[in-house]
Amino acid sequence: MEMKNWKQILLPYTQAVEELKVKFRSIRSEFISLDEYSPIEFVTGRVKKISSILEKAKKKNIPVDEIEEKVEDIAGIRIMCQFAEDIYKVIDIIRARHGKDLYIEEERDYITNIKSSGYRSYHIIIKYPVQTGHGEKMIFAEIQIRTLAMNFWATIEHSLRYKYKQNMPTQIQERLTKAAEAAYQLDREMAEIREEVLKCQESFQLESNLIADIFSSIQALNNKNSTRDMHEIYEMFWTLWEEGDMIKLREFSESLQFNT
Ligand code: GTP
Ligand code: MG
Repeated sequence: MEMKNWKQILLPYTQAVEELKVKFRSIRSEFISLDEYSPIEFVTGRVKKISSILEKAKKKNIPVDEIEEKVEDIAGIRIMCQFAEDIYKVIDIIRARHGKDLYIEEERDYITNIKSSGYRSYHIIIKYPVQTGHGEKMIFAEIQIRTLAMNFWATIEHSLRYKYKQNMPTQIQERLTKAAEAAYQLDREMAEIREEVLKCQESFQLESNLIADIFSSIQALNNKNSTRDMHEIYEMFWTLWEEGDMIKLREFSESLQFNT
């Protein structure tokens, strides 16, 4: 059997994972900086380990030279959402990118079709063009979109499954099934109080963005004004901040911006 240069083969996959992480994290930053709720909570990514790639190929009878066309999750991205309904917003964002910077190959809905293990997640298999020093290379990547509760369960289940391989004690298996049900109930419970949670998070976000704006205006004014004026500005800020009146703080921020 020909020994492939795996390190070289995996390079574009590493690049794809890095690029996709940046892209999905940027979507989050964009919402946050617009004072909007972000359907994306956080993003992780990984390139499958060589040993795991070979193991999967063996398990699925995939010849070594067909691995790149048949193992779709060498590059993997995970997008975590606070609420189940956010998943569908993320799916829409990805679908809107089809034909632009990525191509959707397949969608696997393990949210509607929960796996017998109890696993829930929405998977989108994409083709992603990577620009390399030797031209463009099209590779597969798997995007898993899930809630924090789905992720919590899947992470723990995965490590137990890995530990026990084929011999998971039935008692543990049963408890995992129950835990999956609990995670599902948690997502439903959170959906019930979603509006309340959103309101709190939005006002918290608004306030922290406002304070950040005020500080960058003060920074800018620092270069133009005397120390005495700056002292007054700081005093004014602390007074308003202690009062906690968001409307006054916003007016103050606007007056600062007017003066910069
Ligand atoms: P593999 O499960 O990776 O061999 O591929 P597949 O062709 O069966 O695809 P599938 O869509 O079933 O799974 C792809 C990925 O989803 C896996 O690599 C895991 O990351 C995740 N996954 C699927 N099923 C489970 C599960 O029961 N438990 C956990 N923890 N993760 C799962
Ligand atoms: Mg599987």
